[in-house]
Amino acid sequence: MPTMPEPLLAIKDLRVWFPIRKGVLNRVAGHVRAVDGVSLAMAKGETLGLVGESGCGKTTLGRAILGLEHARSGSIRFAGQELNGMAEKEHRLLRRRCQMIFQDPYSSLNPRMTAMDLITEGLAYHGLLAGRSREEAAAELMHEVGLDRDGIFRYPHEFSGGQRQRLSIARALSLQPDFIVCDEPVSALDVSVQAQVINLLLDLRAKHQLSYLFISHDLSVVRLIAQRVAVMYLGHIIECGSCADILDAPLHPYTQALISAVPTPGKDRRQRTVLTGEMPSPAAPPPGCPFHPRCPQAMPICRTTMPAESSIGDHSVRCHLITDNKNTANTSTDGKANGPGYDATPVQQEKT
Ligand SMILES: Nc1ncnc2c1ncn2[C@@H]1O[C@H](COP(=O)(O)OP(=O)(O)OP(=O)(O)O)[C@@H](O)[C@H]1O
Ligand code: SF4
Ligand SMILES: [Mg+2]
Repeated sequence: MPTMPEPLLAIKDLRVWFPIRKGVLNRVAGHVRAVDGVSLAMAKGETLGLVGESGCGKTTLGRAILGLEHARSGSIRFAGQELNGMAEKEHRLLRRRCQMIFQDPYSSLNPRMTAMDLITEGLAYHGLLAGRSREEAAAELMHEVGLDRDGIFRYPHEFSGGQRQRLSIARALSLQPDFIVCDEPVSALDVSVQAQVINLLLDLRAKHQLSYLFISHDLSVVRLIAQRVAVMYLGHIIECGSCADILDAPLHPYTQALISAVPTPGKDRRQRTVLTGEMPSPAAPPPGCPFHPRCPQAMPICRTTMPAESSIGDHSVRCHLITDNKNTANTSTDGKANGPGYDATPVQQEKT
């Protein structure tokens, strides 16, 4: 039997909990369970979209992969090596291959550094200029991200929002990474500029075989760039699959509500699935399925037992409605599952 190539990134049962300290003794009174048992894998050159409501743990997951947050437990394997618990020196070397682009390039770029210093800071620190001057190295990278080399001595505030995001991308690219966490990289930009930055990310992915973990609230942007999508809720990945699986035929009631909330021409408002209430606090997550307090299809078992992961090919979902992982492939195009394994009553619809 042929052996499967090892994924570039493989995360298993990862937990990142933030302590809540109280009292004069600063005792730990509880934890914010920002990431609470996440498993996922990514291949080289692949883009995984990560979606979910604000506060569900997306940024924390991205930061934990880069070693910027301490993982309480679980495994993060990158290029075959375990990162969790790795000695700092080795971790620093591997971290060069993993970079991050943030939502707001203005606050993530030091306003007192010139474009040249910002872009080549990592190269100079790691001694990777390879005989080039910082000016030459910066000019090459600026050209690669579509910036004019005339701006090499300018400061971040002298660039437009889109140009600043290009600077961030050049900075991330400088160490020739394999993997980049893109945390809402276009959501602060005008729509026309968003498209240009997405196109740049697509070109760079093709040229350098980059893998992106692409965090976004905007499902239309995710559809443009991601090959697969993971849906996060209260620290858990509750559904994961190809773009077509998740965006056109979601199985989990939460994903259905997320997709349904996106206004689409021709879609009747009354046909929308309504997501009521707020996500519970990750400091006091509910028992059982984390979505049960808001789920219109919740059953008694949902209040006590976390659903196991069911898989239909590459489409995985955590929901007690999905009863048979071999027979749940039939889904209709309106996003409602109707296969033999889907044991659901109709999802509540918006009353107008
Ligand atoms: N350093 C921290 N200390 C304590 N709690 C934190 C810390 N960082 C994040 N959290 C909490 O962890 C949870 C997940 O936060 P995170 O920023 O990862 O969410 P997110 O999905 O990225 O949200 P958004 O879409 O708003 O960016 C939130 O409840 C947040 O308040
Ligand atoms: S497990 Fe139960 S509560 Fe959770 S999404 Fe499925 S039906 Fe809803
Ligand atoms: Mg975030």
